[in-house]
Amino acid sequence: MIRLVDVKKTYKNGEDTINAVDGITMDIADGEFVAIMGSSGSGKSTLLNIIGCMDEMTEGEYYLDEISIHGKKMKNLHKIRKSNISFVFQNFALMNHYSVYENVEIPLLANNIKKKDRKKIIEEKLKLLGIYELRNKVPTKISGGQQQRCAIARALVSDNNVILADEPTGALDKKTGEEIISLLKEINKKEKKTVIVVTHDEKVAKNADRIIVIEDGKIV
Ligand SMILES: Nc1ncnc2c1ncn2[C@@H]1O[C@H](COP(=O)(O)OP(=O)(O)OP(=O)(O)O)[C@@H](O)[C@H]1O
Ligand SMILES: [Mg+2]
Repeated sequence: MIRLVDVKKTYKNGEDTINAVDGITMDIADGEFVAIMGSSGSGKSTLLNIIGCMDEMTEGEYYLDEISIHGKKMKNLHKIRKSNISFVFQNFALMNHYSVYENVEIPLLANNIKKKDRKKIIEEKLKLLGIYELRNKVPTKISGGQQQRCAIARALVSDNNVILADEPTGALDKKTGEEIISLLKEINKKEKKTVIVVTHDEKVAKNADRIIVIEDGKIV
């Protein structure tokens, strides 16, 4: 369960203050698939980064399950993120000198999972995402859609309950983008993950249980 109460994020630029997130209150239930929409600069990524414990908020309250996130410093936010939240990015954010397999292995290494157990988990996720055959290739030798599948496999291995995706189809053609969204939807339903997707694409948003529209840092 994600609960935000009057959350604000302010950036100071010399004399200027930018209210990137300007008083957002919302609940997202476990297992929900939510799309966040809104024009460029409306505060979508800022909001997602706060939800993802990537960034500190300026004001307000944020509860992730029973944990109070507000007031926590970056070091603690990092710990909370590691065991609760996985990210999928527009540009995939893969390590280009690592193979597909090794990219998916990274969160498991960070969690000190044994080699044999790692192999089992990674192979299961690579098969689920349909990229098992590509496991020894490096990201630069596979397509954008395949790279995004790799990034989703990496998001899944840590078994976190919340998956956040910031324009995951933004760098993909229409058809591939639709495939990636279907996959996220399948993961939401089958693996019972909470999925929050920032998108500009109406079609993507139509797949969601709920659409939240943001303008000037506020829900409209
Ligand atoms: N690190 C920062 N420092 C100062 N201002 C920032 C910073 N990050 C974002 N902003 C400002 O906060 C506002 C919200 O930005 P944000 O990136 O959340 O928008 P967005 O809705 O994700 O836009 P886009 O669709 O273009 O990705 C914008 O006015 C932006 O310029
Ligand atoms: Mg953004």
